[in-house]
Amino acid sequence: TRGYGNDEGGLLFTPVAPNTEDAVITAGGYTSAVVVRWGDPVLPDAPAFDFDHQTGAAQAKQFGFNCDFVTFFPLTSSRGLLWVNHEYTNEFMMFRNITGGDSLTPEQIKVGLAAHGGSIVEIERVGTTGQWKLVRTGARRYNRRITADTPMRLSGPAAGSNLLKTAADPSGTAVYGMLNNCAGGTTPWNTVLTGEENWNQYFIGGNGVPEAQKPYLARYGVSTTTAIPVESRRWDRVQERFDLARHPQEINRFGWIVEVDPFDPTATPIKRTALGRIAHEGATTTLARDGRVVAYMGDDTRFEYIYKFVSKNAYIQGNDRHNRTLLDEGTLYVAKFTGDSPASEIDGTGRLPSDGAFDGTGTWIPLASGGTSHVAGMTAAEVLVYTRVAADKVGATKMDRPEDIERNPITGAVYAALSNNSNRTVANVDEANPRASNRHGQVVEILEQKNDAGATSFTWSLPLVCGDPADPSTYYAGYDKTKVSPISCPDNVTFDPHGNLWIATDGNALGSNDGLFAMPVAGPERGHVRQFLTVPIGAETCGPLVTKDELSVFVAVQHPGEVSGATPDTPASHWPDGGTSQPRPSVVVAWHKLGKKIGS
Ligand code: FEO
Ligand code: CA
Ligand code: CA
Ligand code: CA
Repeated sequence: TRGYGNDEGGLLFTPVAPNTEDAVITAGGYTSAVVVRWGDPVLPDAPAFDFDHQTGAAQAKQFGFNCDFVTFFPLTSSRGLLWVNHEYTNEFMMFRNITGGDSLTPEQIKVGLAAHGGSIVEIERVGTTGQWKLVRTGARRYNRRITADTPMRLSGPAAGSNLLKTAADPSGTAVYGMLNNCAGGTTPWNTVLTGEENWNQYFIGGNGVPEAQKPYLARYGVSTTTAIPVESRRWDRVQERFDLARHPQEINRFGWIVEVDPFDPTATPIKRTALGRIAHEGATTTLARDGRVVAYMGDDTRFEYIYKFVSKNAYIQGNDRHNRTLLDEGTLYVAKFTGDSPASEIDGTGRLPSDGAFDGTGTWIPLASGGTSHVAGMTAAEVLVYTRVAADKVGATKMDRPEDIERNPITGAVYAALSNNSNRTVANVDEANPRASNRHGQVVEILEQKNDAGATSFTWSLPLVCGDPADPSTYYAGYDKTKVSPISCPDNVTFDPHGNLWIATDGNALGSNDGLFAMPVAGPERGHVRQFLTVPIGAETCGPLVTKDELSVFVAVQHPGEVSGATPDTPASHWPDGGTSQPRPSVVVAWHKLGKKIGS
């Protein structure tokens, strides 16, 4: 019976109503199950999870904390590999009686280091359904944990530059670990791209760095006046490289897009410096008309920019050796958005201008091509290591927290989630970021010139200006707002095989739980947002993925129970294990109970 009712790719499901349940609630006809939880075994010899007796050694073999980006590589129709990012740790929820970084034991700090990074796990289909479960027996030869200690290599134009050298690594090419990996993507040659996002929070001692380095640290949100920021995990107590006063350039070795080969557990992850150094939400790839690889990237901080990288050489199907060089040479661009309505009509309220749309034109401004800088006064290595400073100099457009950005595989349009920006003021709104005190965010649609991802100019519009549909400052692509699900704080985006846009939210400012939404981007249903599922109390929704066979949706339920003041003695959530259990970040799969295609 599989597939009936949705052969056209229409979205037909009855949406989930906004709620504050401590559960994953799916749309009518669907159900869900946990695939893998924090602490579940990744390596075959992983010890059982024991909340009150975790060790760094155990955690390094178990599924990490705060799962974010999820992607799936089928091995057969009933087996596959799941890649999952582990963005960050919340020590206040992982351990009892924590008052800050100073109160952690060295062993707890080691648990934190090991709970970061990523996991590769083998999963298997349950029967012929859309449900998948963790493989718990057998060799599991692809299974791997990558942590904040895993050896990695820096490659591309900035690798080996003076800015990336430390006392421990005079080559400027060898790094341990990746930090705060948020979203990501895959490449046409079946590797994972994962983005180091808020890596600035792991370092102390910024007040002790050489004066010349301080403006660059400050531009990346690192305190240059405080020795130990209040939010510090004090990792320097276990590894002194996290103290900038002693190792000022260690931080320059974080903030990159990291490429991981999920099919080779011995492969060294590679930090691709050609893609720039920002608070990388992630990177998603597509091909330009001429076969060059294009990676779209957001810098998730208020008033930061949208970027893309275009490789110098073209992708050659089947030529793995060649393809694995593509992300080391190319041009890094930053986006400038120009509105087409008079500035007087962009008044900060979110009211549509008289032409009926927040829209306009844009350009991709080149920053560096290989070893050549396009920015006056900066070398190519400086552009790639201090990318925000370079983008400031060329007049790019400061956006409302650029999160995930991805090209629609059917239409070629590119969609970027702009999460929110409470600091936007009436004085600095523009047509792409038109609301002051923007609590709910918007989605920008970019149409590259001639629908070529390699183009250097584009047109754009805002199909979604999020928030309460009854609020006149919201816009749902002109669709009847009495018929849509309210959406707030778009974060991760993906597409089903029909090109419908799926959006996960983080920080719903409308008072109910976060969730996953779907919306057609073309035809009369454009703008008809429906909520597909909601996640438990305190959680955000990450890593949405609709499988190619359209039987399954994977989501990462990140930080369930993360509510101000919650501790292991007073948990705010008991998801997923129920009873009096501690909340555990977990990946969930949802499927239709009758085996219908996702969206039916
Ligand atoms: Fe880690 Fe931008 O969400
Ligand atoms: Ca995200
Ligand atoms: Ca306009
Ligand atoms: Ca997020």
